[in-house]
Amino acid sequence: MTDFISIQEAMNKGSGEVSIRGWVYRERGSNNIKFVVLRDSSNILQCVIKKDDFSDDKFQEAVSVQIEASMEITGTIKKDERAPTGYELSVKEFKIIGASDTFPITKDQSPEFLLDKRHLWLRSRKMTAILKVRSTYIQARDEFFRNEGFYRFDAPILQPSQCEGGSTLFEVKYYKEKTYLSQSWQLYAEAGVFALEKIYNMGPTFRAEKSKTSRHLSEFWMAEMEAAWFDLKDVTEFAKKEIKYCMKKVCEERIEDLKLLGRDSQKLLEIANKDWPTMKYREALKILKEKSKINISFGKDLRTIEEDELMKHFNTPVVVTHYPKEVMAFYKPKDPKNPDEALCFDMLAPEGYGEIIGGSQRSTDVKEMTDELRKQGESVENYDWYFDLRKYGSVPHSGYGVGVERVVAWLCGLDNIKDAIPFPRTMLRWKP
Ligand code: 4AD
Ligand code: MG
Repeated sequence: MTDFISIQEAMNKGSGEVSIRGWVYRERGSNNIKFVVLRDSSNILQCVIKKDDFSDDKFQEAVSVQIEASMEITGTIKKDERAPTGYELSVKEFKIIGASDTFPITKDQSPEFLLDKRHLWLRSRKMTAILKVRSTYIQARDEFFRNEGFYRFDAPILQPSQCEGGSTLFEVKYYKEKTYLSQSWQLYAEAGVFALEKIYNMGPTFRAEKSKTSRHLSEFWMAEMEAAWFDLKDVTEFAKKEIKYCMKKVCEERIEDLKLLGRDSQKLLEIANKDWPTMKYREALKILKEKSKINISFGKDLRTIEEDELMKHFNTPVVVTHYPKEVMAFYKPKDPKNPDEALCFDMLAPEGYGEIIGGSQRSTDVKEMTDELRKQGESVENYDWYFDLRKYGSVPHSGYGVGVERVVAWLCGLDNIKDAIPFPRTMLRWKP
């Protein structure tokens, strides 16, 4: 049995005999020599197969190797400044495990073509780097919540009613009835906190977004938390702590991947170490008016352009609280001190990445919530179970949801949110 090591481990070793396995990233050759750059999940390495070292038949095998063929290779590794990653392997033995047809992806292909071939494009160095950042971020978040004493709590994906407005619901045939795909874990989490007090999860989330933007997916992963006894201030500070923790982990562990994506982990780390401002929506309007000459009257949600304009004045994330009550979801309570404001918040990312978190304290006013749902044309009976939660020992509680792909897109500096998820779903794309 051969002992295979990863390409990165082989380069760390730097000399002597090693056995590696992976896929052909690039290949070129002449009559006497064949260069194969092999790729595995850790890195790439140039391997040289010389005609003189093999029988004619065996060398012909090497000549026939195409991009993305899988191979096992044994040879001697040494430093070589001319090689793409600074090392070269002189091949003693090789075996083709799976030959490859001519790979359909070549240079300079359109984003749409790459999405059609997504199952193959995932192997690219760019996608591999993004997927690693995503994985590190998600694992760091899990670690954060466990350190903070939270329990993981799961909610149904098939839900009988809306949480974030009926217009973006995906309807599903449910035996002889109809139901909907989850827009949020939240309403069920509000039941969970009365048992577990501090809970979190991360789950697939669905929104039938009718707009085509670089920030919206129809299926995305929302990373939510809910905690009993937390008020708006507690939850906004906690959100900053969570994102900072995850950023630091990603910056420590994914330096090379961030670099490959054109991101400077040091700069991101500096952002994570700064204080992030919290301001009321009314103050945000003032900044827009004074610094950007944009006049918005109180009572409207911030649109993408206004968010972007506001964030031009900041180089860290900003928490905006107290949005106008009348345009907010039914469960966001009014501020007793200013009834036209809701006890809610968004966290906005810098560099034009927009809203990454939405959250709030939760209303305990059943009448107000009922009226609001009725106004939206909802069947209020569907929420009876939710209102029960306010009847049996209700306590102040709060929570929020992080858009996983929005955070990944920001950390990786992506042009489009579609690259932050392996197989994106949008209004126009649901395949492969
Ligand atoms: O602001 P949203 O709609 O908040 C909620 O759903 C709350 N119920 C969460 C909670 O309090 N537990 O969504 C939360 C976050 C947004 O800030 C955004 O980052 C992301 O989810 N998000 C999307 N990401 C990608 N594509 C979409 N269509 C998204 N819609 C929301
Ligand atoms: Mg929101």
